[in-house]
Amino acid sequence: MSSREQFSSKTGFVMAAAGSAIGLGNIWGFPTQTASNGGAAFVAVYFLMTFCLAYPVLIAELVIGRYARANMVNALQEVAIGPITQKLGMGVGIYGVIVASLILSFYGIIAGWMICFLIESVASMLGYEQFSSWLTSFGFERNILSMAVFMLLTMSIVAGGVEGGIEKWSTRLMPMLLVLMVVLIAYVLTQDGAAQGLRVYLLPDLSHFNPALVLNAMGQAFFSLSLGVGTMLIYGSYLGKEESLPKLGAAVTLIDAGIAFTAGLLIIPAIYVAKELGTTVFAESGELIAGPDLIFQVLPSLFASMGSVGYLVAFAFFTLMTIASLTSSISMLEVPVALVTEQSGMARKRATAIISSVIFAVSTVILLNFEQLFDFVINLTTVYSQPLLAVAICVFSGWIWHRNKILAEIKQGHEDIEDSLFWKIWPIYVKFFCPVLILAAFLQSVIG
Ligand code: TRP
Repeated sequence: MSSREQFSSKTGFVMAAAGSAIGLGNIWGFPTQTASNGGAAFVAVYFLMTFCLAYPVLIAELVIGRYARANMVNALQEVAIGPITQKLGMGVGIYGVIVASLILSFYGIIAGWMICFLIESVASMLGYEQFSSWLTSFGFERNILSMAVFMLLTMSIVAGGVEGGIEKWSTRLMPMLLVLMVVLIAYVLTQDGAAQGLRVYLLPDLSHFNPALVLNAMGQAFFSLSLGVGTMLIYGSYLGKEESLPKLGAAVTLIDAGIAFTAGLLIIPAIYVAKELGTTVFAESGELIAGPDLIFQVLPSLFASMGSVGYLVAFAFFTLMTIASLTSSISMLEVPVALVTEQSGMARKRATAIISSVIFAVSTVILLNFEQLFDFVINLTTVYSQPLLAVAICVFSGWIWHRNKILAEIKQGHEDIEDSLFWKIWPIYVKFFCPVLILAAFLQSVIG
C-alpha cells in the first residue's frame, strides 16, 4: 500500500489550516456581525468564545485525526470502545461529511458572486457595460456559471493532492491575501469617514448587548475555525507525529482571530467612508446594512464613487474575497474526497471529479429554488448542525476515548505536555465545559 499523504512542513499545515479557517466568515461575517451587534462588545465576546470554546474543540479534532490517520467516519470508529459507540461514531462521521458537502454547496454560490464582481471590475474599466450589468444582476445563468467556475477551481486544487494541491496553493494564496488586505486597509483609512468607522468598531456600545450576541459570537467562532464537520480532523490526519498539536492549533486560532479582527479594520471604516460619499448604509430599521447588500451594493457603490482608482480597489477587494473563499472551499471538498478515497480505494482525481459533480448538482438545486433553499441550507448546516457535531466531538474525546491514549497522542511532538497548563485544563474543557455551554447556547437559540 502506498504511504498516506502528509503536509511537508509545519508551515505547510499552518497555511492550509489557516487558509481553511480564513474565509468569507472572517472578512464578511465577522465585521458585519460586529457592526450589527454593538461593535467592540461583540469583538470581546467573540475572542472569549474563540479561545475558551472553539480552540479546545479544534485540538480535539486535530488529536483524533492524527491518531487515527483517517477521515472522520473511520476516525471516530477508531476511538470508539464498543459496538454502540462505534455505530455512533460512524453516524456522526457520516453526518459531518454530509454537512461539510452542504456547506460547500452554498459557499460555492456565494464565492461565485465574488468572481462575478472581480471580473466586473475589469469589464467596467474597459467599458463593457452590458456585460458588467449582467455580472452584477441576480440571475440563474450568471449564478450557475460563476458557481461552476468556482467549483472547477476548487476541484483542480483538491485533485492535486495534499502536498501538491492543498498545501501548495494555500502557501501561495495566503500571503497574497495578507498583502491585499493591508493595502486595502491603508487606502480606506486615509479616506474621509474612516475615523468614525474605527470608533464604532473599537468602542463598545453596551446598548446593543443582548443574549443573542453571545450566541452569534459562538456560531461565528465555530464557523470561522471550520469546526465540527471533520475539516480540521482530516487536516490533522495529514500532520506529522513530530509536531505539537496544542501549539499548531494555537497558531491557527490566533491567525484566524487576528485576520477576522484585521478585516474589521477594513470593512467597518469602509462602510462609513461610503456613507460620507452619499451611499445609503443604514436600512430603514436604522440598522447598518450587513447582509449580501453590504458586499454587493454598499461596497461597490463606494468603489464606483472613487473614480478610476475605484476599479483597482474593487479588483483588489474581490480578488481578496475569491482567494479567501478558495482556500476554505478546498478544505470542505477534502472531507468527502478523503472519505471516498480511503473507503473505496478510488483514485483521488476520479473521486474529486465525481464528488464535485454531486455538489455542483446540489448547488444547482439550491439555485433553482433559491427563495426556499438558500437560507434554509445555511441555517440547517451552520446554526443547527455545526454546534451539535462539535458537541459530539467533545463527547468522543472527553467521554468515550481513553484519556491515556489521548495523552499518548498529544505527547508525540510535545514531550512535556503532562506537566503543562494545557493538560490541566483541556481535558476538563472538552469533557464538561464545552459540551454544556454549546448545548445551552444551542437550546436557547432553538427554543427561545
Ligand atoms: N472557516 C471558513 C470561513 O470562515 C469556512 C469553512 C471552511 C468552514 N471549512 C469549513 C465552515 C467547515 C464550516 C465547516 O469562511
